[in-house]
Amino acid sequence: MKNLQQLSKPDDEIFRLKAEFDKDSRTEKINAGIGIYLDEKGKPFILPVVKKAVKKLEIKNFNYLPLSGDPLYLEESAKIVLGKYLYQETAKKIAKQGTIGGTNALYMWCRLIKAVDNQPVIILSNPTWENHLKMFEYFGFKIIEYPQLKKDRSFNFEGLASTLEKNRSACILFQAGPTHNPTGINPDKSQWQELAKMIKQNKNQVLFDFAYLGLGEGIDSDSFCLRHFIQSKIPTSVAVSYSKNMSLYQHRAGVLMVSSSSIREKELIEKYLQNAFRLVNSNPSAFAEQIVKTILASKQLISEWLIEIRNIRNSLKKRRDMFMQKSSNRFEYLKTNRGLFSLLFLKIDQIHKLRKKYAIYMLKNSRINFGGVAEDKIKYLADAVLDVTT
Ligand SMILES: Cc1ncc(COP(=O)(O)O)c(C=O)c1O
Repeated sequence: MKNLQQLSKPDDEIFRLKAEFDKDSRTEKINAGIGIYLDEKGKPFILPVVKKAVKKLEIKNFNYLPLSGDPLYLEESAKIVLGKYLYQETAKKIAKQGTIGGTNALYMWCRLIKAVDNQPVIILSNPTWENHLKMFEYFGFKIIEYPQLKKDRSFNFEGLASTLEKNRSACILFQAGPTHNPTGINPDKSQWQELAKMIKQNKNQVLFDFAYLGLGEGIDSDSFCLRHFIQSKIPTSVAVSYSKNMSLYQHRAGVLMVSSSSIREKELIEKYLQNAFRLVNSNPSAFAEQIVKTILASKQLISEWLIEIRNIRNSLKKRRDMFMQKSSNRFEYLKTNRGLFSLLFLKIDQIHKLRKKYAIYMLKNSRINFGGVAEDKIKYLADAVLDVTT
């Protein structure tokens, strides 16, 4: 094959680190890089409700699903994301496509936007998840970044507001509730309301990335932003992932939902998504959709799921609090962070030292995943961080 040299790109940082971590034979090692939730003891975790749902599955065949995915899965997903009230009000005008996890939902949204806008512009936070940048770059979006945090490490509302002011009618990418990857900080409710006013006036359209739905403050609270935007009649899409909040990482359950102004528009969007999806994936992940559907369609299982994700939130909070305490409160700003991630604001040589001396693996932007650190390793982590920073 010709010209292979020009295909060469740096490896994905998260998966390269994971490969290095797997090879590391030191028993004290910690992988705080990859966004996977481990239990308090640091062991791989499958939600009990997911195990129950898998046992309950009555698989009658492995035939193809409709191109959009399992209809009940799509409906139940819309109910959970929109809440019952807004679902009843708006579901008829929300286009839905089952996707191969959240990444593919983002990808399908890019396809849709590119199909209707040859020179799309996307406003997103700096920092953000690395794949966001790669994806929008790949699709030829003009990328405009706003700084997510102020000097005091709180949400930079003014920075975002002035970026919006300068870029009317662009698309904007947000993440769910407070679970921003990698900072653990996002607008609060009153800031979301202020933003909705500006966005409506400026005629922007919004894409929410719901990769960590429920892991911030709970499903309803984390979805407030999306629901408020849809209620405000802002063109809004959401890329839903069940990888994290149902521990289905390898099974690839996702949905893309796109609000529209009429049933006709909804049908056009769905048709486009089906055709585009057929071309690259042909059919959604049926096994994953079955598991999610079994949980969401059962009153009993859904209430168990909500309790289990509350336990995950509590466990994340406990680990963050322990880290703050054990590091002599040098990281007090973490108090306001939610979700799996936070930034420790370490320098690159400090991050390298953590890996070399302590077998602690962290991304180069010093993002730490508290869900990846066992409770009994928090002291080890805090001591190591204090050592490399003092
Ligand atoms: C911000 C963000 N969006 C989307 C995703 C994609 O998740 P999935 O594994 O469902 O594709 C991730 C996964 O790490 C993420 O961190």
